Amino acid sequence: MSRPTKLYEPYQLGPISLANRFVMAPLTRNRAAPGTFVPSPLAADYYAQRASAGLLVTEASQISQQGQGYQDTPGIYSKDQVAGWRKVTDRVHERGGRIFIQLWHVGRISHNALQANGGAPVAPSAIRAKGKTFVNGTFADVSEPRALELAEIPGIIDDFKRVTRNALEAGFDGVEIHGANGYLLDQFAKDGANKRTDAYGGSIENRARLMLEVSKAVAAEAGADRTGIRISPVTPANDISDSNPQALFDHIVDGLNALKLVYLHVVEGATGGPRDFAPFDYADLRKRFSGAYIANNGYDFELATKVLDAGAADLIAFGKPFISNPDLVERLQKGAPLNEWDKNTFYGGGARGYTDYPTLEAADAAE
Ligand SMILES: Cc1cc2nc3c(=O)[nH]c(=O)nc-3n(C[C@H](O)[C@H](O)[C@H](O)COP(=O)(O)O)c2cc1C
Repeated sequence: MSRPTKLYEPYQLGPISLANRFVMAPLTRNRAAPGTFVPSPLAADYYAQRASAGLLVTEASQISQQGQGYQDTPGIYSKDQVAGWRKVTDRVHERGGRIFIQLWHVGRISHNALQANGGAPVAPSAIRAKGKTFVNGTFADVSEPRALELAEIPGIIDDFKRVTRNALEAGFDGVEIHGANGYLLDQFAKDGANKRTDAYGGSIENRARLMLEVSKAVAAEAGADRTGIRISPVTPANDISDSNPQALFDHIVDGLNALKLVYLHVVEGATGGPRDFAPFDYADLRKRFSGAYIANNGYDFELATKVLDAGAADLIAFGKPFISNPDLVERLQKGAPLNEWDKNTFYGGGARGYTDYPTLEAADAAE
Protein backbone atom coordinates (compact mmCIF):
# COMPACT_ATOMS: atom_id res chain seq x y z
CA MET A 1 0.00 0.00 0.00
CA SER A 2 1.47 3.35 -0.92
CA ARG A 3 1.29 6.33 1.44
CA PRO A 4 0.77 9.98 0.48
CA THR A 5 4.09 11.78 0.31
CA LYS A 6 6.17 13.96 -1.97
CA LEU A 7 9.11 11.60 -1.49
CA TYR A 8 8.20 9.77 -4.69
CA GLU A 9 7.90 12.80 -6.94
CA PRO A 10 10.66 13.15 -9.53
CA TYR A 11 13.07 16.07 -9.30
CA GLN A 12 15.18 17.87 -11.88
CA LEU A 13 18.62 18.49 -10.39
CA GLY A 14 20.34 20.72 -12.95
CA PRO A 15 20.74 18.53 -16.03
CA ILE A 16 20.00 15.34 -14.09
CA SER A 17 16.55 13.82 -13.67
CA LEU A 18 16.06 12.14 -10.31
CA ALA A 19 13.36 9.50 -9.98
CA ASN A 20 12.42 10.52 -6.43
CA ARG A 21 13.42 12.76 -3.52
CA PHE A 22 15.61 10.24 -1.70
CA VAL A 23 19.32 10.89 -1.39
CA MET A 24 21.65 8.30 0.06
CA ALA A 25 23.86 10.33 2.41
CA PRO A 26 27.65 9.95 2.18
CA LEU A 27 28.72 7.07 4.44
CA THR A 28 32.31 6.12 5.14
CA ARG A 29 32.69 2.31 5.25
CA ASN A 30 36.51 1.79 5.30
CA ARG A 31 36.61 -1.11 2.91
CA ALA A 32 38.96 0.20 0.21
CA ALA A 33 42.08 -1.79 -0.67
CA PRO A 34 44.84 -1.16 1.90
CA GLY A 35 47.77 0.74 0.41
CA THR A 36 46.15 1.69 -2.90
CA PHE A 37 42.84 2.94 -1.49
CA VAL A 38 41.01 1.69 -4.57
CA PRO A 39 37.30 1.17 -3.78
CA SER A 40 36.54 -2.42 -2.85
CA PRO A 41 35.06 -4.61 -5.63
CA LEU A 42 32.13 -5.02 -3.22
CA ALA A 43 31.48 -1.27 -3.43
CA ALA A 44 29.97 -1.73 -6.89
CA ASP A 45 27.44 -4.22 -5.46
CA TYR A 46 26.79 -2.03 -2.43
CA TYR A 47 25.98 1.13 -4.38
CA ALA A 48 24.10 -0.75 -7.14
CA GLN A 49 21.88 -2.35 -4.48
CA ARG A 50 20.87 1.15 -3.37
CA ALA A 51 20.43 2.64 -6.87
CA SER A 52 16.68 3.20 -6.46
CA ALA A 53 17.45 6.33 -4.43
CA GLY A 54 16.99 9.43 -6.59
CA LEU A 55 20.64 10.30 -5.91
CA LEU A 56 23.50 8.42 -4.27
CA VAL A 57 26.35 10.33 -2.71
CA THR A 58 29.40 8.16 -2.17
CA GLU A 59 31.36 7.82 1.02
CA ALA A 60 33.87 10.65 1.46
CA SER A 61 36.88 10.06 -0.80
CA GLN A 62 40.21 11.71 -0.18
CA ILE A 63 41.59 14.10 -2.77
CA SER A 64 45.22 13.30 -1.91
CA GLN A 65 47.28 11.26 0.53
CA GLN A 66 47.43 14.37 2.71
CA GLY A 67 43.63 14.48 2.73
CA GLN A 68 43.23 11.01 4.28
CA GLY A 69 42.39 10.62 7.96
CA TYR A 70 41.22 7.07 8.50
CA GLN A 71 42.25 3.58 7.54
CA ASP A 72 41.13 2.18 4.17
CA THR A 73 38.99 5.06 2.95
CA PRO A 74 38.94 5.30 -0.85
CA GLY A 75 40.77 7.94 -2.85
CA ILE A 76 40.00 9.59 -6.17
CA TYR A 77 43.50 10.89 -6.94
CA SER A 78 45.19 7.89 -8.65
CA LYS A 79 44.51 6.16 -11.97
CA ASP A 80 43.70 2.89 -10.23
CA GLN A 81 41.21 4.60 -7.93
CA VAL A 82 39.50 6.18 -10.94
CA ALA A 83 39.28 2.75 -12.58
CA GLY A 84 37.83 1.31 -9.37
CA TRP A 85 35.18 4.02 -9.16
CA ARG A 86 34.32 3.50 -12.85
CA LYS A 87 33.09 0.01 -11.94
CA VAL A 88 30.84 1.55 -9.31
CA THR A 89 29.33 4.24 -11.55
CA ASP A 90 28.77 1.75 -14.39
CA ARG A 91 26.83 -0.59 -12.13
CA VAL A 92 24.75 2.22 -10.64
CA HIS A 93 23.95 3.61 -14.09
CA GLU A 94 22.98 0.15 -15.40
CA ARG A 95 20.37 0.14 -12.64
CA GLY A 96 19.12 3.61 -13.58
CA GLY A 97 20.72 5.33 -10.59
CA ARG A 98 22.52 8.67 -10.30
CA ILE A 99 25.70 9.10 -8.30
CA PHE A 100 27.87 11.97 -7.04
CA ILE A 101 31.20 11.48 -5.28
CA GLN A 102 31.99 13.29 -2.04
CA LEU A 103 35.42 14.99 -2.22
CA TRP A 104 37.26 15.01 1.10
CA HIS A 105 40.25 16.60 2.76
CA VAL A 106 40.26 15.78 6.46
CA GLY A 107 42.73 18.49 7.50
CA ARG A 108 43.71 17.96 11.14
CA ILE A 109 41.54 14.86 11.66
CA SER A 110 44.35 12.50 10.67
CA HIS A 111 47.33 10.65 11.98
CA ASN A 112 51.05 10.71 11.20
CA ALA A 113 50.82 7.06 10.14
CA LEU A 114 48.69 8.07 7.14
CA GLN A 115 50.78 11.05 6.04
CA ALA A 116 53.77 11.07 3.68
CA ASN A 117 56.96 10.19 5.58
CA GLY A 118 55.03 10.12 8.85
CA GLY A 119 54.61 13.90 8.71
CA ALA A 120 52.07 16.02 10.55
CA PRO A 121 48.53 16.40 9.22
CA VAL A 122 47.75 19.90 7.97
CA ALA A 123 45.24 22.39 9.38
CA PRO A 124 44.42 26.08 9.32
CA SER A 125 46.20 26.41 12.67
CA ALA A 126 48.39 24.11 14.75
CA ILE A 127 45.61 23.16 17.14
CA ARG A 128 45.08 19.50 17.84
CA ALA A 129 41.47 18.31 17.83
CA LYS A 130 40.19 16.31 20.77
CA GLY A 131 39.17 13.14 19.06
CA LYS A 132 40.14 9.82 17.67
CA THR A 133 40.73 8.33 14.30
CA PHE A 134 40.96 4.67 13.27
CA VAL A 135 44.34 3.66 11.94
CA ASN A 136 46.46 0.47 11.87
CA GLY A 137 43.48 -1.50 13.13
CA THR A 138 42.91 0.54 16.26
CA PHE A 139 41.48 3.84 17.54
CA ALA A 140 44.17 6.46 18.13
CA ASP A 141 44.18 10.13 19.10
CA VAL A 142 44.46 12.39 16.07
CA SER A 143 47.98 13.75 15.63
CA GLU A 144 49.25 17.26 16.33
CA PRO A 145 48.74 19.16 13.05
CA ARG A 146 50.87 21.88 11.51
CA ALA A 147 49.42 25.11 10.11
CA LEU A 148 49.34 25.26 6.33
CA GLU A 149 51.66 27.85 4.80
CA LEU A 150 49.85 30.45 2.75
CA ALA A 151 51.83 29.25 -0.28
CA GLU A 152 50.44 25.71 0.12
CA ILE A 153 46.78 26.70 -0.21
CA PRO A 154 46.70 26.97 -4.03
CA GLY A 155 48.00 23.39 -4.15
CA ILE A 156 44.99 22.17 -2.17
CA ILE A 157 42.61 24.00 -4.51
CA ASP A 158 44.46 22.39 -7.43
CA ASP A 159 44.00 18.96 -5.83
CA PHE A 160 40.25 19.57 -5.67
CA LYS A 161 40.30 20.58 -9.36
CA ARG A 162 42.32 17.56 -10.44
CA VAL A 163 40.11 15.07 -8.65
CA THR A 164 37.01 16.71 -10.08
CA ARG A 165 38.34 15.85 -13.53
CA ASN A 166 39.05 12.34 -12.26
CA ALA A 167 35.50 12.05 -10.96
CA LEU A 168 34.05 12.93 -14.34
CA GLU A 169 36.41 10.45 -16.01
CA ALA A 170 35.19 7.82 -13.54
CA GLY A 171 31.63 8.43 -14.76
CA PHE A 172 30.15 10.31 -11.82
CA ASP A 173 27.12 12.48 -12.53
CA GLY A 174 28.62 15.19 -10.35
CA VAL A 175 30.61 15.93 -7.23
CA GLU A 176 29.82 16.93 -3.66
CA ILE A 177 32.39 19.08 -1.84
CA HIS A 178 32.75 17.96 1.77
CA GLY A 179 32.44 21.20 3.67
CA ALA A 180 30.98 19.57 6.78
CA ASN A 181 31.74 17.69 9.99
CA GLY A 182 34.90 19.43 11.16
CA TYR A 183 37.13 18.51 8.21
CA LEU A 184 39.48 20.88 6.38
CA LEU A 185 37.00 23.31 4.81
CA ASP A 186 34.89 23.44 7.98
CA GLN A 187 38.10 23.92 10.02
CA PHE A 188 39.01 26.96 7.94
CA ALA A 189 35.48 28.37 8.18
CA LYS A 190 35.05 28.09 11.96
CA ASP A 191 36.91 30.19 14.48
CA GLY A 192 37.29 27.33 16.98
CA ALA A 193 39.91 25.80 14.66
CA ASN A 194 41.11 28.78 12.60
CA LYS A 195 43.38 31.34 14.32
CA ARG A 196 45.15 32.51 11.16
CA THR A 197 46.07 36.14 10.69
CA ASP A 198 46.42 36.06 6.88
CA ALA A 199 43.74 36.31 4.16
CA TYR A 200 42.29 32.92 5.28
CA GLY A 201 41.71 33.79 8.94
CA GLY A 202 40.09 36.37 11.17
CA SER A 203 36.94 37.83 9.57
CA ILE A 204 34.05 35.72 8.34
CA GLU A 205 34.98 36.71 4.78
CA ASN A 206 38.50 35.42 5.28
CA ARG A 207 37.50 32.18 6.99
CA ALA A 208 34.91 31.42 4.30
CA ARG A 209 37.45 32.09 1.57
CA LEU A 210 38.83 28.56 1.16
CA MET A 211 35.40 26.92 0.99
CA LEU A 212 34.30 29.42 -1.64
CA GLU A 213 37.54 29.25 -3.64
CA VAL A 214 37.35 25.44 -3.70
CA SER A 215 33.69 25.63 -4.75
CA LYS A 216 34.52 28.02 -7.57
CA ALA A 217 37.41 25.84 -8.78
CA VAL A 218 35.39 22.62 -8.67
CA ALA A 219 32.40 24.23 -10.39
CA ALA A 220 34.71 25.49 -13.14
CA GLU A 221 35.72 21.85 -13.84
CA ALA A 222 32.45 20.00 -13.37
CA GLY A 223 30.01 22.78 -14.20
CA ALA A 224 28.13 24.47 -11.36
CA ASP A 225 25.09 22.40 -12.32
CA ARG A 226 27.01 19.22 -11.37
CA THR A 227 28.58 20.62 -8.21
CA GLY A 228 26.97 20.32 -4.78
CA ILE A 229 28.33 21.00 -1.32
CA ARG A 230 27.68 19.64 2.15
CA ILE A 231 27.79 21.85 5.23
CA SER A 232 27.00 21.35 8.93
CA PRO A 233 26.64 24.79 10.49
CA VAL A 234 26.41 23.80 14.17
CA THR A 235 27.74 20.27 14.39
CA PRO A 236 30.28 19.58 17.13
CA ALA A 237 31.65 16.64 15.11
CA ASN A 238 35.41 16.31 15.25
CA ASP A 239 35.75 18.98 17.92
CA ILE A 240 34.65 21.86 15.69
CA SER A 241 32.89 25.02 16.85
CA ASP A 242 32.17 28.58 15.81
CA SER A 243 31.22 31.67 17.80
CA ASN A 244 28.57 32.82 15.29
CA PRO A 245 27.53 30.09 12.88
CA GLN A 246 24.45 31.94 11.59
CA ALA A 247 26.43 34.95 10.35
CA LEU A 248 29.17 32.66 9.01
CA PHE A 249 26.84 30.42 7.02
CA ASP A 250 24.65 33.26 5.80
CA HIS A 251 27.80 34.65 4.22
CA ILE A 252 28.98 31.26 2.91
CA VAL A 253 25.61 30.42 1.41
CA ASP A 254 25.39 33.82 -0.31
CA GLY A 255 28.75 33.01 -1.88
CA LEU A 256 27.66 29.52 -2.92
CA ASN A 257 24.47 30.91 -4.38
CA ALA A 258 26.45 33.41 -6.48
CA LEU A 259 28.42 30.45 -7.85
CA LYS A 260 25.10 28.77 -8.78
CA LEU A 261 25.95 25.41 -7.24
CA VAL A 262 23.30 22.85 -7.98
CA TYR A 263 22.66 21.88 -4.37
CA LEU A 264 23.24 22.76 -0.76
CA HIS A 265 23.29 19.67 1.46
CA VAL A 266 22.78 20.59 5.09
CA VAL A 267 23.38 18.43 8.14
CA GLU A 268 20.88 20.00 10.52
CA GLY A 269 22.01 19.88 14.17
CA ALA A 270 24.68 17.56 15.52
CA THR A 271 25.70 14.99 12.92
CA GLY A 272 24.10 11.72 13.97
CA GLY A 273 22.83 13.45 17.14
CA PRO A 274 20.13 15.90 18.23
CA ARG A 275 18.62 17.99 15.44
CA ASP A 276 18.10 20.82 17.94
CA PHE A 277 21.67 20.67 19.22
CA ALA A 278 22.06 24.47 18.87
CA PRO A 279 19.75 27.23 17.67
CA PHE A 280 20.07 27.83 13.93
CA ASP A 281 17.72 29.15 11.25
CA TYR A 282 17.99 26.68 8.37
CA ALA A 283 15.07 28.35 6.56
CA ASP A 284 17.31 31.38 6.24
CA LEU A 285 19.86 29.32 4.28
CA ARG A 286 17.13 27.92 2.09
CA LYS A 287 15.92 31.45 1.29
CA ARG A 288 19.40 32.56 0.33
CA PHE A 289 20.09 29.63 -1.99
CA SER A 290 18.24 29.22 -5.27
CA GLY A 291 19.50 25.69 -6.05
CA ALA A 292 18.20 22.50 -4.44
CA TYR A 293 18.20 22.19 -0.65
CA ILE A 294 19.01 18.69 0.64
CA ALA A 295 18.12 18.18 4.28
CA ASN A 296 19.80 15.52 6.44
CA ASN A 297 20.04 14.20 9.95
CA GLY A 298 17.62 11.93 11.71
CA TYR A 299 14.93 11.93 9.01
CA ASP A 300 12.28 9.25 8.83
CA PHE A 301 9.29 8.91 6.51
CA GLU A 302 7.04 11.23 8.54
CA LEU A 303 9.54 14.03 9.04
CA ALA A 304 10.71 13.83 5.42
CA THR A 305 7.13 14.07 4.17
CA LYS A 306 6.35 16.98 6.48
CA VAL A 307 9.44 18.94 5.44
CA LEU A 308 8.91 18.31 1.73
CA ASP A 309 5.23 19.27 2.02
CA ALA A 310 6.17 22.49 3.79
CA GLY A 311 8.58 23.30 0.97
CA ALA A 312 11.44 23.50 3.45
CA ALA A 313 13.59 21.09 1.41
CA ASP A 314 13.68 19.63 -2.10
CA LEU A 315 15.43 16.36 -1.30
CA ILE A 316 16.02 14.36 1.87
CA ALA A 317 19.25 12.50 2.60
CA PHE A 318 19.04 9.34 4.68
CA GLY A 319 22.22 7.87 6.13
CA LYS A 320 22.00 4.92 8.51
CA PRO A 321 18.63 3.73 7.14
CA PHE A 322 20.36 3.20 3.77
CA ILE A 323 23.17 1.20 5.37
CA SER A 324 20.75 -1.50 6.50
CA ASN A 325 18.04 -1.14 3.83
CA PRO A 326 19.22 -1.36 0.25
CA ASP A 327 15.55 -1.02 -0.77
CA LEU A 328 14.74 1.81 1.64
CA VAL A 329 12.82 3.61 -1.12
CA GLU A 330 10.48 0.65 -1.71
CA ARG A 331 10.15 -0.28 1.96
CA LEU A 332 9.02 3.20 3.00
CA GLN A 333 6.56 3.34 0.14
CA LYS A 334 4.94 0.16 1.39
CA GLY A 335 5.19 1.11 5.03
CA ALA A 336 7.18 -2.11 5.49
CA PRO A 337 9.43 -2.61 8.52
CA LEU A 338 13.07 -1.58 8.22
CA ASN A 339 16.14 -3.68 8.95
CA GLU A 340 18.12 -2.46 11.97
CA TRP A 341 21.67 -1.36 11.32
CA ASP A 342 24.62 -3.03 13.00
CA LYS A 343 27.11 -0.43 14.25
CA ASN A 344 29.81 -3.07 14.58
CA THR A 345 30.08 -3.42 10.82
CA PHE A 346 29.94 0.29 9.88
CA TYR A 347 33.68 0.76 9.57
CA GLY A 348 35.84 -1.89 7.92
CA GLY A 349 35.37 -5.56 7.17
CA GLY A 350 33.87 -7.31 4.16
CA ALA A 351 30.43 -8.20 2.87
CA ARG A 352 28.89 -8.68 6.31
CA GLY A 353 26.94 -5.58 7.26
CA TYR A 354 27.76 -4.12 3.85
CA THR A 355 26.23 -6.01 0.94
CA ASP A 356 24.28 -8.67 2.85
CA TYR A 357 21.33 -6.67 4.23
CA PRO A 358 18.25 -8.29 2.66
CA THR A 359 15.70 -6.51 0.52
CA LEU A 360 12.07 -6.99 1.44
CA GLU A 361 11.70 -9.31 -1.54
CA ALA A 362 14.64 -11.46 -0.45
CA ALA A 363 13.37 -11.53 3.15
CA ASP A 364 9.87 -12.58 1.97
CA ALA A 365 11.31 -15.30 -0.27
CA ALA A 366 13.31 -16.68 2.66
CA GLU A 367 10.23 -17.09 4.87
C1 LIG B 1 28.92 4.95 9.24
C2 LIG B 1 28.79 6.42 8.94
C3 LIG B 1 29.67 6.99 8.05
C4 LIG B 1 29.54 8.34 7.70
N1 LIG B 1 30.37 8.88 6.75
C5 LIG B 1 30.18 10.14 6.31
C6 LIG B 1 30.93 10.66 5.23
O1 LIG B 1 31.76 9.98 4.62
N2 LIG B 1 30.69 11.94 4.84
C7 LIG B 1 29.76 12.74 5.47
O2 LIG B 1 29.58 13.89 5.09
N3 LIG B 1 29.01 12.25 6.50
C8 LIG B 1 29.18 10.98 6.91
N4 LIG B 1 28.38 10.46 7.89
C9 LIG B 1 27.22 11.25 8.38
C10 LIG B 1 25.97 10.85 7.58
O3 LIG B 1 26.09 11.22 6.22
C11 LIG B 1 24.70 11.53 8.14
O4 LIG B 1 24.92 12.93 8.18
C12 LIG B 1 24.33 11.03 9.53
O5 LIG B 1 24.37 9.62 9.61
C13 LIG B 1 22.92 11.53 9.94
O6 LIG B 1 21.96 11.06 9.01
P1 LIG B 1 20.99 9.81 9.38
O7 LIG B 1 20.30 10.20 10.67
O8 LIG B 1 20.03 9.70 8.24
O9 LIG B 1 21.86 8.61 9.57
C14 LIG B 1 28.53 9.13 8.30
C15 LIG B 1 27.66 8.53 9.23
C16 LIG B 1 27.78 7.20 9.56
C17 LIG B 1 26.81 6.57 10.54
